[in-house]
Amino acid sequence: MTKKRVGVLISGRGSNLGALIEACKAPDYPAKIVLVVSNVPSVQGLLRAEAALVPALTINHKDFATRDDFDAALGKVLNEAGVELLCNAGFMRLHTENFVDHWRDRHLNIHPSLLPAFRGLHSHARVLDEGVKITGCTVHFVRPEMDTGPIIAQAAVPVLPGDTPESLGNRVLEAEHRLYPHALKLVASGAVRVEGENVVGMTQIRDQAPFFSPPLDEAL
Ligand code: GRF
Repeated sequence: MTKKRVGVLISGRGSNLGALIEACKAPDYPAKIVLVVSNVPSVQGLLRAEAALVPALTINHKDFATRDDFDAALGKVLNEAGVELLCNAGFMRLHTENFVDHWRDRHLNIHPSLLPAFRGLHSHARVLDEGVKITGCTVHFVRPEMDTGPIIAQAAVPVLPGDTPESLGNRVLEAEHRLYPHALKLVASGAVRVEGENVVGMTQIRDQAPFFSPPLDEAL
C-alpha cells in the first residue's frame, strides 16, 4: 500500500500529534508522518515526535518579518519533505491566503467544538456559558477564515453537570484523539472528497443510535 506522506503542524502539547503517530503505526493505515513542524521552540509536541523517531523541526514565526515570509519558509520544508497532506494539530497561527490556496483540500485542522458553532478560542468556556448540552470536536479542511471549511468528521460529547472548561476540555480531547486519526484515514484513503464546499463519501453514521442530552427517559 502506498501511504500518503503527511506533515503535522503544532504549537504546543501535541497530544493530537501523539494520536496520529500511534495511528500511523498500523501497517494498514493509509498515511505516514514524514515531518512535524512547530512554530514555537521546545514544545512538548517536538519531544513526542523525537521519541517516535519522526523528523521534526522548529520554524519560529518570531524570526520572520511578515506572515508571507513565515509561510514561504514553512512551504519550503514541507515541499522538500514531499508532504502530500497537511494536518494542523493545535497550530496556533493563521496562514496566509496563498498558503491556504496551495494546500486546498489537502489540509486538515481539528477544532474542539461542533463547528460551525464556537469557532475561535476558549470554546469550552463559551459552551458552558451558553448552557449547551452537547458539544464535541470537528476535523475540517482548512479555508482562509479561521475554523471554517468543509467538515470531514465530528464527534459529539456530552456536557455534564458541574463541568468546568477543564473537565469538559479533557472529555472532548479524548474524542479528538479518536476522531483525528479516523478523519485522516478517510482523506488519505480517498474515501471522501470535497464537492462544492461539502465533504461527501463515507461520512454517514452507521449502527450508532442518536445521542440525547438529557436522556430520553428523563423527558416528561
Ligand atoms: C486541541 O484541543 C485542538 O482541537 C485545538 O488545540 C488543541 C491542541 O491540543 N486546535 P494538542 O496540542 O493536540 O494536545
